[in-house]
Amino acid sequence: MTYEMEKEILQQPQVLTNLINRYITKENKISFNLPEGIKKLTFIASGSSYHCAGMVAKIFREVANIKASCEYASEFYISKNIFIERQTLYIFISQSGETLDTVESLKKVKADGGKTLCITNCKNSSLWKMCDYKILSEAGEEKSIASTKALIAQLLCMYLVMLEFLDSKGHNISQELKDIKKLPLFVKDFLADTSQIQNAAQKLAKTPNAVILGAKYYYSVAKEGALKIKETSYIDANAYPQGEFLHGHMAVLNNKPLLIAIAVEETKESMEIILSRIFKDYTPQLITISNEDSIFPNGLNIKINTKNNIYNLFASVITFQLLAFKTAIALGRNVDKPLGLKKVVK
Ligand code: F6R
Repeated sequence: MTYEMEKEILQQPQVLTNLINRYITKENKISFNLPEGIKKLTFIASGSSYHCAGMVAKIFREVANIKASCEYASEFYISKNIFIERQTLYIFISQSGETLDTVESLKKVKADGGKTLCITNCKNSSLWKMCDYKILSEAGEEKSIASTKALIAQLLCMYLVMLEFLDSKGHNISQELKDIKKLPLFVKDFLADTSQIQNAAQKLAKTPNAVILGAKYYYSVAKEGALKIKETSYIDANAYPQGEFLHGHMAVLNNKPLLIAIAVEETKESMEIILSRIFKDYTPQLITISNEDSIFPNGLNIKINTKNNIYNLFASVITFQLLAFKTAIALGRNVDKPLGLKKVVK
């Protein structure tokens, strides 16, 4: 049996190639129409799109040195005071462009005169029609309830927006452009051997609950991983910022969840310290995602074969897509139509 979710995961190299061809010109320029004079970014989104926002807000802060924050649309639109600022760009990320909370938030920002940009997979959707600036993330129709290729497309679009922003400030982005053009091939190779993820899925399928740890952008990856696992396999997976986990949360390890730790390049050393601390008092089953063959004694490791930060980000998101998919299959779930879930649109 073939599943839409799996097909959509496997389409991702092509989705990335299409976007690169569409948005990077032959002259090596990124061709979005973006407003000038922006000093701050506020991302507003829901679900997987919110997790994409979480990743890119941190990238904007760390790499482009611009203020950026993100809000759950469902929280934003019921807030009394939203304090619209003239030099802030309000960025709405949504696969469908029709998610109720996100559309209502947009209406609120527009009513107070805020400048708006949407990244959506659906041209002519409500977001598309209402926003001042718009970017089509063009992942193709997403049939599976669990979002995969749409998020990867959003992530690439937002990364390119950041590069365009850096370019406009006079930074040399030629190395980043070279790297991004090779991303589809890297993802294709990564998808070619998923045996370690299959082994991890066999373990995950045997546990009722899981804890996922990550830092910085990888905390948002961890949240997305937890959402994907919950949606498709119904395992109670929860994400924590790796350092914060030590502040009391780790008592949940008494319930013997499987522990998944994202320990790639940028956060490897700090994660090793956290794991040593955890293993002083607990003995959870461990899965690590790292750039090494193995990083912690007795842990099952999923290796991402690169030291490039942006490749690590994409590959770690894809690792969780596959882990969720394979775990759900091992449990006999209908991955494309999880029980009780539907898209929350108007
Ligand atoms: C996750 C999923 C949902 C959506 C969320 C927002 O796999 O499908 O969490 O990401 O409902 O949907 P969009 O992006 O259409 O606004």
